[in-house]
Amino acid sequence: MADVKKFYITTPIYYVTDKPLLGNSYPTVIADVIARWHRLRGDDVFFLVGTDEHGEKVETAARTAGKNPKEFVDDIVGVYKDAWQQLCISYDYFIRTSDPNHEAMVSQFIEKIAKGGDIYKGFYEDWYCVPDETFWTELQLKDGKCPECGRPVKKVKEECYYFKLSKYQQALLELYEKNPAFLSPKHRSKEIINRVKAGLNDISITRSTVKWGVPFPLDKSHTIYVWVDALFNYITALGGPSDGRFARFWPADVHLVGKEINWFHSVIWPALLMSAGIELPRMVFAHGWWTAEGKKMSKSMGNSVNPMDIANKYSVDALRYVLVREMPLGDDGDYSEKSLITRLNNELVAELGNLINRTLTIAEKFDGKIEGKPELDAALDIGAIDAHMQKNDTFNALNDVFTFIRAANKYVNDKQPWKLNGSELAGVLYNLLEAARIISILIYPFMPQTGECIAVQLGTKVGKLEDCKFGNFDGKVAKGGYLFKKVL
Ligand code: MSP
Repeated sequence: MADVKKFYITTPIYYVTDKPLLGNSYPTVIADVIARWHRLRGDDVFFLVGTDEHGEKVETAARTAGKNPKEFVDDIVGVYKDAWQQLCISYDYFIRTSDPNHEAMVSQFIEKIAKGGDIYKGFYEDWYCVPDETFWTELQLKDGKCPECGRPVKKVKEECYYFKLSKYQQALLELYEKNPAFLSPKHRSKEIINRVKAGLNDISITRSTVKWGVPFPLDKSHTIYVWVDALFNYITALGGPSDGRFARFWPADVHLVGKEINWFHSVIWPALLMSAGIELPRMVFAHGWWTAEGKKMSKSMGNSVNPMDIANKYSVDALRYVLVREMPLGDDGDYSEKSLITRLNNELVAELGNLINRTLTIAEKFDGKIEGKPELDAALDIGAIDAHMQKNDTFNALNDVFTFIRAANKYVNDKQPWKLNGSELAGVLYNLLEAARIISILIYPFMPQTGECIAVQLGTKVGKLEDCKFGNFDGKVAKGGYLFKKVL
């Protein structure tokens, strides 16, 4: 196994114009799984989440709601915090871009970038997608609409300040070349590299018609473009370059982002950091998109899925399980309730739940000393699971955990412990209880409540990765209820 190290992972910070949906719960759950795994290894972890609160979209939404923007964002942030608590998101810090500390630091970074000569005054006359807060040229539009989300764009004509993104073309290409993992997964890197090779335009980094934002330090009649403000959250959350947390955790090890915002993170963000003289993050991992029941999820189509409804109906862990198991990280996939129910019944109930239930049932009836020789250990390859997780391959890691669960079930079927007694039964039970204990640890990052529930029934605590080896079972079994209920 690799050495213990510091590990800093971030999710996108979400616009506070809506409550959490399945789409933005996805990177939050995946980042949580990865953060929890690193904590199991004993790594020094910092896991950041937050909200993106400035900009035209929020300003307009607040006006429509008849509130001032600050009131508006304050009301919604609590909904996010509650949702993340319910989904067992173990974040270390929740950043809000309306935090005064964040605002002050963003302003300082922009001043630094300006001092380096990378900002100049100009005029923007082209298109803007308010829902995505993105500038588009006429040529980029698709049928006159936003090429990213397909929604209408508006014409913007306003004075602005530009950042010299074009100056960083070569440096960015060198970064991608020298550090291929920066653009992850590999199959998404080509698109970015080709676009950067084709040439970079300077980008507008201020808005003179948007008031809800960080004042632009060089000209207070402008606010800083919301995306520039938002990207800096990854540093301001650590207290900025003079803070001990920055020294301890920066550079970020993984910025987990959706594929549609890869450009901002893989091109604009490193260019801003180069300009500000700050070390670059190690990896931007662009994950894919969910559709729901075969269709693009959107509120206007009425098929946006509320993760809390799923969690309330089936359990938080069933939701977390499906988000990891149904779609390899980096690919696109489809969410359907039918498929969730199939996995819940066939995998969580019939494989994991059944193994734990039959193990505990036999253990409760047994009153001898539980001892034996490891036999099931051959079916477990912790190194391989950890290697998957080091590549953020949550899909294959969970797959391997279930391969072990299946092997343990097969072991029960082969050994037929109900026909055994004495030391033979003790030996089989020893293997099953140790397997269950190890499973409680391995499953914990994916399904924390299930991991804890198994550990409680075994009379142990969820251990660390180093405890995932067959030793002496020293728990005290107290069988509880079923882990999962079959959905009929
Ligand atoms: N505020 C910006 C991010 C700034 S980061 C410095 C933003 N916010 S957002 O609220 O629109 O969230 C977008 C993120 O939610 C996507 O990048 C993606 O990670 C996630 N998803 C939203 N819908 C999704 C799906 N249907 N499927 C998977 N993830 C998607 O963009």
